[in-house]
Amino acid sequence: MNLKIALLGGDGIGPEVLAQAVKCLQAVEETFNHHFTYKEAPVGAIAISNDGNPLPTETLQLCKDSDAILFGAIGALKYDNNPEARIRPEQGLLKLRKELGLFANIRPVKVFPALVKNSVLPKKVIAGTDFVIYRELTGGIYYGKKTLNEDATLASDLCEYSEKEIARITHLAFKAAKKRRGRLTLVDKANVLETSRLWRKVVTEISDSYPEVHFECQFIDNIFVQLMTNPSQFDVILTENMFGDILTSQASIVIGSMGLLPSASVGNENAMFSPFHGSYPQAKGKNIANPVAAIFSVVLMLQHFGLYEEANAVSAAVQKSFKKGITTTDILGSDKYGTDYVGDYIADHIVDSDEDPNINDENIGLGKSTII
Ligand code: IPM
Ligand code: MN
Repeated sequence: MNLKIALLGGDGIGPEVLAQAVKCLQAVEETFNHHFTYKEAPVGAIAISNDGNPLPTETLQLCKDSDAILFGAIGALKYDNNPEARIRPEQGLLKLRKELGLFANIRPVKVFPALVKNSVLPKKVIAGTDFVIYRELTGGIYYGKKTLNEDATLASDLCEYSEKEIARITHLAFKAAKKRRGRLTLVDKANVLETSRLWRKVVTEISDSYPEVHFECQFIDNIFVQLMTNPSQFDVILTENMFGDILTSQASIVIGSMGLLPSASVGNENAMFSPFHGSYPQAKGKNIANPVAAIFSVVLMLQHFGLYEEANAVSAAVQKSFKKGITTTDILGSDKYGTDYVGDYIADHIVDSDEDPNINDENIGLGKSTII
């Protein structure tokens, strides 16, 4: 397969972890005879310092012309510590999502047997955890009208949702639940918010078309408790933009490290793949960031293009690194391997299971062959 891939490393550790993801893609090209081309473009704080625009026109154009986007991370301390900055790195990402119509953000959360000890939660609580969050990505409070009065003493952010915006992601989430364990949980705050009541109405109506999926609703405050006490009850979680942002970060606690989880942002025409984690500027250039979230983003990308064998091969190589303890310092018991070393190890262990009978055991051992 030929694929044009846009590389948007962004800020902080973004470019370092993306470089490891590219190594793995190159290994996939070689092993499975594909041809991928890569073009880099600036976004975020780095783009602001180049020409004052967090999403330069050429970057947006490159993304539109590519088959897929691999995105690193965005954000810089300079802006985090200055609430008055009007131009901010995050605006680049938000605009990119909107312009490309990436309305569904898909974040799988699965406990890896080899890393159970890494979670702060007891083994018996996290055992069997395997769910996926469908977060609406181009609506809600992130994009509603924002106001600040003249003397900067009163501010507001409007949260708006249309039935259409809710329906399109809801269908994706139900279809996913149908293929998985047949459970969908809508997370909202329908006891307080009008937008949540609209979500509940629309999703409940749509649920009639998916009788094989068990549908339930939970309030956002309760789900935080459930996630920490009984995460294995969840299969597909569907929620709006802001709740989804917070919920996905909280879900990473179950796994024990933000550095392990990938996400896919998809729309009708474009698709972008990136780690859950932020730009972690304190770690930039230190060769300590965990590249696994970026590498798992490659797995999601390969699955998106129907390259399942390739996705399995990358996933199996990552599992092997876990088993051998070739992990970065955020993983307990790690021998403190560097970002580069872990990236090289994983890329070097990507093999075609048809040609290496030994690797089959690894795949079978995963239970499911892929991470979604
Ligand atoms: C995420 C991030 C972004 C978000 C930021 C960087 C704008 O936190 O993808 O979870 O809030 O959506
Ligand atoms: Mn977030």
